[in-house]
Amino acid sequence: MPQLVWLVTGCSSGFGEQFVHSILARGDKVIATARALEKISHLEQAGAAVLQLDITASQQSIRNTILRALAIYGKIDLLINNAAYIAVGTWEDLEYEDWLAQFDTNVFGTIKVTRALLPHFRERRSGTLVFISSLSGWIGHAFCSAYAGSKFALEGIVEGLWRETAHLGIRTMLIEPGRFRTNLLSTSNMKAARSEIPDYAVSSENMIEGLAKEDHAQPGDPKRLVETILDMVRREGVAEGKEIPFRLPLGVDVFDDMKAKCEETLKLLDEWKKVIRSTDYAE
Ligand SMILES: NC(=O)c1ccc[n+]([C@@H]2O[C@H](COP(=O)([O-])OP(=O)(O)OC[C@H]3O[C@@H](n4cnc5c(N)ncnc54)[C@H](OP(=O)(O)O)[C@@H]3O)[C@@H](O)[C@H]2O)c1
Repeated sequence: MPQLVWLVTGCSSGFGEQFVHSILARGDKVIATARALEKISHLEQAGAAVLQLDITASQQSIRNTILRALAIYGKIDLLINNAAYIAVGTWEDLEYEDWLAQFDTNVFGTIKVTRALLPHFRERRSGTLVFISSLSGWIGHAFCSAYAGSKFALEGIVEGLWRETAHLGIRTMLIEPGRFRTNLLSTSNMKAARSEIPDYAVSSENMIEGLAKEDHAQPGDPKRLVETILDMVRREGVAEGKEIPFRLPLGVDVFDDMKAKCEETLKLLDEWKKVIRSTDYAE
C-alpha cells in the first residue's frame, strides 16, 4: 500500500495520541493536531508534523489550518475526527451554555473540520473520513444526555454524508467505542456539574463518583481499538480480504448493549406492528 497521509484531531491524549504512534509505526505520515501545541511536542519528536487546531475555531480559521496542513505533504488521505469531550449533568443542572458548548465541540467542530477538507477529497476523488462516535450515539444514559445528544447527532449527519459522497470516491467510517482507558473521564477533561437540585442530588453524585472510579479502569485498550481502525482503513490484519462496513462498534460492552437495543427495537416493531402501520390515509 502506498504511504498515506493522515490528519488527526485531539492528539494530546487518549485515542488521538495513540493514533499518531500507531500510524507512524505502520510507516505512514501523520499531521497531529491539538489545541495546545506544547501538549504534542513529544509527538513531533516521534516523527509527526504538528499543527495547532481548536475545532471550535471559526470555519475560516479552520479552513486556513487545513490549507496549511495540505501544504505539509502536498495531500491528506485520511481525516480522523477524534476531538471531543463529555459533559455530565442533569438536563436542569447543565446550563444552556453547557449544552451549546458540548455540541459546539462534538458536532459543529467536527462539521467545520470535515467541511474544510471535503473539497480536497472531492477534487481528488479519493479520501477517507473517520468519525469517532460512541455507544452514547446509540443509548442515552442518565446524566449524559448532552454527550449522547451530540453523538446521536454525529451518527445522523455522518450517515447522510456517507450516502452523499460515496459516489465521489470518498470513504466514510463511523466508529462506536464502548468504555476505553483514556483521559475522557479524568477531572481535567470531563466537565461534570454536580446537581444542586435535591431530587437528583444522590443519583447524580453516585453517577459522578462512579465515573471517577471508572477513570483509567475502563476495560477497553485504546491501542487495540486504534490498531483495529488502522487495519480497517488499510484493509490489512483483521480486515484483510473483508468488505469494510460503514459502521463499526468496538468493545465488549458496546456489543452487548447495542445487540440488546436492536432486539428491544425488533420486539417493539413486532408487538406494535398493527398500530405502527395504521396511520396512513385509509384510501
Ligand atoms: N474513551 C472512551 O471510553 C470513549 C468512548 C466512546 C467514545 N469516545 C470518543 O473518543 C474520542 C477521543 O476521546 P478520548 O477517549 O481519547 O478522550 P481524551 O483522552 O479526553 O481525548 C480527547 C481529546 O480531544 C481534545 N479536544 C477536546 N476539545 C477540543 C477542541 N475544541 N479542539 C481540539 N481538540 C479538543 C482534547 O484535547 P485537550 O488536551 O486540548 O483538552 C483531547 O486531546 C472522543 O470523540 C470521545 O467522545 C471515547
